[in-house]
Amino acid sequence: MTHAPHHRIQVVAHRGASEDAPEHTLAAYKKAIEDGADALECDVRLTADGHLVCVHDRRVNRTSNGRGAVSALELADLAALDFGSWKKGPAWRGRDEEPEWEVRPEDRGDTSVLTLERLLELVADAGRRVELAIETKHPTRWAGQVEERLLLLLKRFGLDSPATPAESRVRVMSFSARSLHRVRAAAPTLPAVYLLQFLSPRLRDGRLPAGVGIAGPSIRIVRNHPAYIERLKRNGHQVHVWTVNEPEDVDLCLELGIDAIITNRPGPVLRRLGR
Ligand code: G3P
Ligand code: CA
Repeated sequence: MTHAPHHRIQVVAHRGASEDAPEHTLAAYKKAIEDGADALECDVRLTADGHLVCVHDRRVNRTSNGRGAVSALELADLAALDFGSWKKGPAWRGRDEEPEWEVRPEDRGDTSVLTLERLLELVADAGRRVELAIETKHPTRWAGQVEERLLLLLKRFGLDSPATPAESRVRVMSFSARSLHRVRAAAPTLPAVYLLQFLSPRLRDGRLPAGVGIAGPSIRIVRNHPAYIERLKRNGHQVHVWTVNEPEDVDLCLELGIDAIITNRPGPVLRRLGR
């Protein structure tokens, strides 16, 4: 399959510019916007008192100085934690050398827990179009509450009912087809991305769950199964790939006509794409 040599790939900052700043913090998202990212990716979880916060892991142990499951903590408990200092510690990518990231004076205060509401405010004030790719984490354990809260919040920002999926500034992503169906049932014009870590035999024909327009395969799937990507494209699906950090993978995505690259390094990826 041939593609226009310079089709525009959307560059999505995975957990913010998470190579340069602690993931899922305001500092990481501000950096991504500064770097010129087209969109921001975030994972959302519900706190014990029903707030949506941007945290990847089930527990806060890796990315903060606290312990425990997000779902067992209230927002005030999370707000008391430091979600920035871990990146200076030995856990940071297992590297021996000193990490490059330091809290810039202007970022002080930007490394506490980030609510989705605050992230939506940041995007609204960005001064240019910045899209959001929101991933629902472990949605089944909450029996619809994650999606319900998410849609209520999007409604408050006027983002829940775009005229068409193509015009939407927000898309919802999940490894759970059930979660995407819940969102689509309540908000039929919001784009949905079905995330795939591995290519199971039932998906090989390049079809996605009903109503889902976008596939979100891992870069490993893209490297190992380029014919699958072509099948998805032939079936009219967009393809958004995660997590693309290496220059040769950026080139592969360009070659295969991928629509969006989700990366920890939006700045270098944009430079690789000549932007
Ligand atoms: O963008 C999709 C990707 O973030 C899925 O994996 O574990 O980083 O949430 P994970
Ligand atoms: Ca994610």
